[in-house]
Amino acid sequence: MTIDLNGIQLRNRLLTSASMLGYGASKKKLILYGLSPIAQWVPLDGFGAVTTRTLTVEPREGHFSLRDDWSLTEFPAMLRLYAKALRRVDGGWMNAFGWCNIGIEAYFDEYYPRTSDQNRIISVGGFSAEELCTLVETVNRRAKPGDIAAVEFNVSCHNVNFPFETILEEILAQAVPLSRHPVILKLSPDEDYVEQGKLAERRGIAALTAINAVKGLRVDPENGEPFMKNRFGSISGRAIKPIGLRVVAELRDAGIRLPIIATAGIRDFDDCREFFWAGADAVSLGSAVWLTRMPLYALGPLEGLRIRRLMRRVAGYHPPVAIEAAWVEHGPVAGEEAVGPGHDRVGEPQPVLA
Ligand SMILES: Cc1cc2nc3c(=O)[nH]c(=O)nc-3n(C[C@H](O)[C@H](O)[C@H](O)COP(=O)(O)O)c2cc1C
Repeated sequence: MTIDLNGIQLRNRLLTSASMLGYGASKKKLILYGLSPIAQWVPLDGFGAVTTRTLTVEPREGHFSLRDDWSLTEFPAMLRLYAKALRRVDGGWMNAFGWCNIGIEAYFDEYYPRTSDQNRIISVGGFSAEELCTLVETVNRRAKPGDIAAVEFNVSCHNVNFPFETILEEILAQAVPLSRHPVILKLSPDEDYVEQGKLAERRGIAALTAINAVKGLRVDPENGEPFMKNRFGSISGRAIKPIGLRVVAELRDAGIRLPIIATAGIRDFDDCREFFWAGADAVSLGSAVWLTRMPLYALGPLEGLRIRRLMRRVAGYHPPVAIEAAWVEHGPVAGEEAVGPGHDRVGEPQPVLA
């Protein structure tokens, strides 16, 4: 059964969040290269969709490095650099990778052909409407309609130090109409997400992702030095789950009817149910699953089993909140069969949000 979220075709309602599985396949079997080791015990083609790391027009080092040829003697230096880009903090993680990525063309050359079994969402980011147009045109050129689920605009990342809200309208006005694929807008809890959600509805965005990681700061108590290379970092994981729930609920309270994909500390089935009650249409596994500490690497297969079971439970679950989402207005074509918010839930309980 396919889930149709306003034109976005998902295999089920359980996704993976941007970057958690790198580009969908590993270059080397090391977490440092962007693919959690747990991924080898989970069938990635079983997810509703797998979202890539954010890709830019040109390759970017960001606040880490694109090198993957570190020698053993260089390893300590690499680990020091890594610790300035990703660090465990209370109840979650802080990262400051700052769009460290190989660039969109290299992704299509090196990873896209190797991930064709997955339903993919391609995350893109840029610093101008022109760059977003270039990214959309590249995806249009290299992926046929139907070959990917959607393109996700990540123009809400703190780690690149750019005032995206000042150009968001321009980006959406120019880049969304160009896309042959549905476009998702990823929202930050640190910006005016309600206004951005309303703008997204007006500008033809197909769905929203909530939330991007939350801006935060940690410093070394000895000397006041920030732990992150970019001074501030982005918090993810269990610590931000209540913030994610708040954002989803507030988007719904504001009358926004676009489908919402939730990501914020989701780990188990109850987390998923909480987000569905708050108004989400799909849920996404992020750092609370993929960056989980594995004191014993040997426990990986058990975690894999747990995630497989979660997949099955979410796939068999009918969210209780009857949201008359915008896709009722825009899609699907009359006569076509589709399952989406509000369509399989007549007579089910109403949300407890009001
Ligand atoms: C190490 C790391 C790297 C991330 N890179 C990206 C990225 O490239 N693009 C993006 O849109 N979000 C990125 N995120 C944010 C996640 O996709 C997600 O929105 C955020 O972590 C909140 O969800 P979570 O609490 O479930 O992890 C990253 C998060 C982490 C922890």
